[in-house]
Amino acid sequence: MTKQIKLTVNGKLKTVDVDIRLSLLELLRDTFNLTSVKQGCGAGECGACTVILDDITVDSCVYLALWADGKSVRTAESLSEGEKLSVMQEVFVDEGAVQCGFCTPGILMSATLMKESGKEFTRDEIKRSLSGHLCRCTGYQKIVDAVDKGLKK
Ligand code: FES
Ligand code: FES
Repeated sequence: MTKQIKLTVNGKLKTVDVDIRLSLLELLRDTFNLTSVKQGCGAGECGACTVILDDITVDSCVYLALWADGKSVRTAESLSEGEKLSVMQEVFVDEGAVQCGFCTPGILMSATLMKESGKEFTRDEIKRSLSGHLCRCTGYQKIVDAVDKGLKK
């Protein structure tokens, strides 16, 4: 069974027929070719599939595409303008917070929303805010350093 939905994806209005069982992750990757959205656990545990939906982050692997009807979705593809990286992307590179990069787009979306909130975060608050993201490579220290620096820039 399919249903037509309208949603904004990275600033562009889209109308699409979706299977009612399709996840937002599958819609973004398979229909819109937004491959920054990674499938890790597929169970809402690792944060690799995190996107910004209106003004919250969601694990798109456990969020049905049809629930995004009328909403605005942002993925990591929206962060840079051509060759120009966002502040958060730049600090991730500068701080060496990216190794294999699998977790990075999801973490960047959470960090971007934190920055857009305009709030100040202590290091403990940064750690708590990123606690839904798993990284197999970095040991987290450099990720926290990068987000801390990006929030202060
Ligand atoms: Fe969605 Fe792991 S792939 S939380
Ligand atoms: Fe490899 Fe995080 S950089 S999983």
